[in-house]
Amino acid sequence: MTNWQDENVHIRRMTPEDYDEAYALWERTPGMHLQSLNNTYGGIALLISKNPDSCLAATDGDGKIVATVLGATDGRKGYLYHVAVDEQWRGHGIGTTLINRVQDVFKANGIVKVGILVLVDNVNGQEFWKHQGWKTRPDVIYFDHDL
Ligand SMILES: CC(C)(COP(=O)(O)OP(=O)(O)OC[C@H]1O[C@@H](n2cnc3c(N)ncnc32)[C@H](O)[C@@H]1OP(=O)(O)O)[C@@H](O)C(=O)NCCC(=O)NCCS
Repeated sequence: MTNWQDENVHIRRMTPEDYDEAYALWERTPGMHLQSLNNTYGGIALLISKNPDSCLAATDGDGKIVATVLGATDGRKGYLYHVAVDEQWRGHGIGTTLINRVQDVFKANGIVKVGILVLVDNVNGQEFWKHQGWKTRPDVIYFDHDL
């Protein structure tokens, strides 16, 4: 596996100005759930403004966004959203590096638990989290509600 650091890939904080480019990545990435009301520019900008250290993008040598992770905390637990690596960049360790960096930010802020919601039909995504050592919660059913 070629390491992402040998490929001129750079990891930086995301900003709201990245929205269009990041959204295009999410749209072409299987397993993303973009239908929610909070995936608008305003929703993502709000999440970034409240979690500036844990919303990260990886860019290639031309500055193009090739991967993202949005890490957010409610002060008690951390959550990951939109973990996406562009297809041609998968298998270089970029996804693992991004989620490790976000988890380091969470830990530095006293967060000791992190979770992610994965679509039932995103089997590859589920395998990735299992490979990372994450466990499912068969005792939980997720409810939500539009405000
Ligand atoms: C899942 C995803 C983020 C992985 O990113 P990536 O940069 O290719 O992953 P890495 O290169 O960091 O892989 C790290 C390890 O996970 C393994 N891995 C990667 N994808 C895997 C998968 N789908 N199933 C099982 N293992 C996987 C790699 O083999 C590697 O193993 P190793 O450390 O033992 O060598 C990427 O494939 C992706 O964007 N998928 C589509 C979106 C998605 O499903 N997101 C996650 C669910 S919300």
